[in-house]
Amino acid sequence: MESNKDRSFYIITPIYYVNDIPHIGHAYTTIACDVMSRYKRMKGFDVRFLTGTDEHGQKIQMAAEGKGLTPQELVDKIHVNFKELWSVLNISNDDFIRTTEPRHIRVVQAMFKQLMDQGDIYKGTYEGRYCVPCETYVPESGEGEGQTCPDCGRPLTMMQEESYFFRASRYVPQLIEHYEKNLDGVIPRARYNEIMSFLRGEVRDQSVSRTTLKWGIPIPGDEKHVVYVWFDALINYATSAGYLDDPTKFARYWPCVRHVVGKDIIRFHCVIWPLMLLALGLNVPVSVIAHGWWTVEGEKMSKSKGNVVDPFRMVDLYGADAFRYFLLREVPFGNDGDFSELALVGRINSDLANDLGNLLNRTLQMIETYCGGVVPACQLSDPLDLELRDLGSATLSKVDAAMESFSFDEALKAIWAFVSRGNKYIDETMPWKLNKEGDVKRLAEVLHSLYETLRLSALLVAPVIPNTAERIYRQLGLTATPCEQRYDDFRWGEGAGTKVEKAEVLFPRIDIEEWKKRRAASSQPVSVPQSEHEPEIGIDGFSAVEMRVARIVKAEEIPKSKKLYKLKVDLGYETRTVCSGIKAFFKPEELEGRLVVLVTNLKPVKLCGIESNGMILAASVKKDGASEQLTLISPASDIPLGSRVS
Ligand code: MSP
Repeated sequence: MESNKDRSFYIITPIYYVNDIPHIGHAYTTIACDVMSRYKRMKGFDVRFLTGTDEHGQKIQMAAEGKGLTPQELVDKIHVNFKELWSVLNISNDDFIRTTEPRHIRVVQAMFKQLMDQGDIYKGTYEGRYCVPCETYVPESGEGEGQTCPDCGRPLTMMQEESYFFRASRYVPQLIEHYEKNLDGVIPRARYNEIMSFLRGEVRDQSVSRTTLKWGIPIPGDEKHVVYVWFDALINYATSAGYLDDPTKFARYWPCVRHVVGKDIIRFHCVIWPLMLLALGLNVPVSVIAHGWWTVEGEKMSKSKGNVVDPFRMVDLYGADAFRYFLLREVPFGNDGDFSELALVGRINSDLANDLGNLLNRTLQMIETYCGGVVPACQLSDPLDLELRDLGSATLSKVDAAMESFSFDEALKAIWAFVSRGNKYIDETMPWKLNKEGDVKRLAEVLHSLYETLRLSALLVAPVIPNTAERIYRQLGLTATPCEQRYDDFRWGEGAGTKVEKAEVLFPRIDIEEWKKRRAASSQPVSVPQSEHEPEIGIDGFSAVEMRVARIVKAEEIPKSKKLYKLKVDLGYETRTVCSGIKAFFKPEELEGRLVVLVTNLKPVKLCGIESNGMILAASVKKDGASEQLTLISPASDIPLGSRVS
C-alpha cells in the first residue's frame, strides 16, 4: 500500500522580499510551482502549495527608510502587490504566509529556543565582510579578491558584532550521507554536485542573530538581538505546515516537501535549511529544484537599466496563459533564459494560435458542418486512428516522466507533438473529401478521433494554461473544470454523443509587422511641428522658475479624481503637498521614494479640494492612435534634497 508520504505533495516557492514590486523572476518561480501543483492534483495527489513574503531584515528596513515609511507600513503595502499578481496569474496556492504574522514569530522563537536548549545555538562574536543588500556575510577568498559581493557585485562592509551561532558543522556528515543516498535531493545534477562539493569543504557555524538591526524577530530572553533574516525566513515553510499548532497537518505534509528556488539561493535551501532541520530532528526536503535566471533581451535585468519585465504589463498585453506558457516552454527549467517580447509573440502565433487554436477551430467547424454539432460514435479500427489514440496515451506517459524531473519544456514539447499530429491527421484524412464522397462511416471515425485528441489535449495543457483549457472544454461542450479532472480517469472514446459549442478563436494571431511598427514608433523621436514650439524667452524668464530636487515620500489616491494623486514631497528644508495628474501611469509604491524635480514657486492652486504647492516635472508624449507615455524627470545620481535645478 502507498503511504501518505507518497500521495502527499507539499510544494513551496521561496518567500519574496517586499522591498520592491514583483518582477518576472518572482513570477517564474511561482508559475512553475503552480503548474506542478495543478498537475499533481490531476494525478490524484494531496497537494499543498505555499508561497508568501519575506518581510524582516536590513533590506526591508532600508527600503522603508528610503520611502519615509515604517517597515511595518512598507510591508503591509508591498505584500499586496504579490497577492494581486498571483491572482492575475491564476496561481492556486493554498496558503500565503507573511513572516511578520504572529503564527510565524511564535515558531521562529520556539525553534530558536529548542536549538539553544540542546546546545546547537551558542553565543560568540562574529567578524566578517558583509553585503548589506544580500544580507549575508561573504566568506574569505584569495588575496586581492572579495572587496565586492560575488553575488551582486556591490562593495562589502567590515562588520563585527556579538552574535548567536548555529552549530551547523555538527550535522554536515549526516547531510552528506543523506544526499549520497538521495541523488534527487537537489535537482538538476549539476547543482547537486555543487552542493556536495560545498558540503565536503568547510561548512562553518552560522551566525543567526543581529544586534545592528531592529526590524526582526526578537530573541526570547536577549532582546537586543533579532533573529537573522534567513534563519527567520526559512522557517516559514514549517510554520505554514502547522509545526506548532497542527501536528496532524504537519505529519501529513512535512515528509513530502519540494522547494523550487532560483539558483542564487540554493545554499540556503540545500545546506543551511536541511542542517537546521536535522538539528531539530525533522525530515529534510525530498528535493530542492533549482531554476536558472532570466536576462532581458541579452542583458541582466536591473532597475537602473530600466529593463525590468513587469508581469502585470505582460498579462495586460498578452494574457496570463500566454505568459505562463512562454516562460515554461522557452527554457529548460534548470537553465538560464533570455526574455524577449518578440519571442513571446512568436510562441503565441505558432504554438497557441496556429497549432492548438487551429486544431480546435477546424475540428469544431467540421463537427458542426458535417455532423450537426454532435460528436459521432464509432468503433475504431483504422490503423491511423489507433495510432493517434496510442500517441495520446504515450503522451500522457511522456508528460509524467518529464514532470517528475520538473522538465516543463519537455512535457510541453510532447503535448505539442500530439497536437501537431492531430493537425497532420486532418491533412491526411481530408474530412471535406470524405464528406463529398459520402463516406459517412469514415467521416464519423475521423471527427470522433479529432474530438478525442482535443479532449485529451485540453487535459494535458490544463496545468500550464488553465484558462485556455477551460475555454477549450466549453467549446467542446464539456461542463467540467479541466484542472479538477484526473488523468487516470481519461478514456479515449467517451466523448461520443457530446453536443459541441460554436468555435471561437482561442488566441488571435498577432501581426508581427504591425507589432514591430508599434514598438519602433514608441522608440522613435517625436517630431514637433513649428506651431507647438513656445516663443523664445530670455535667461531671466527661465531663472524666474525655481526648480529643486525633492523626494516623493507618500502617494495617495484622491477618491474623487481619476487622474490625480496627492503626493507628499520632501524638499529637505520642508515638506509639501502636491497634486499630480500621473495616476494613470504609476502605482503609489512606484512613486514613493523617488527623487523628482519640483517647480517650487508656482502659485498654490486648489485641485479636488486639496491645495497643491508646486508641480513635479515629467516628459510625456502621445502619438497617433497610441496611448500616452509619461516618465518622471529624476536626477541621474544622488544629490541632496532641495538642490536647485537650473
Ligand atoms: N527572500 C529571499 C528568499 C527567502 S526563502 C526562505 C529571496 N527573495 S527574492 O525576492 O529576492 O527572490 C526570490 C526568488 O526570485 C529567488 O528564487 C530568485 O532566484 C528569483 N529571481 C529573482 N530574480 C530572478 C531572475 N532574473 N530570473 C529568475 N529568477 C529570479 O531571495
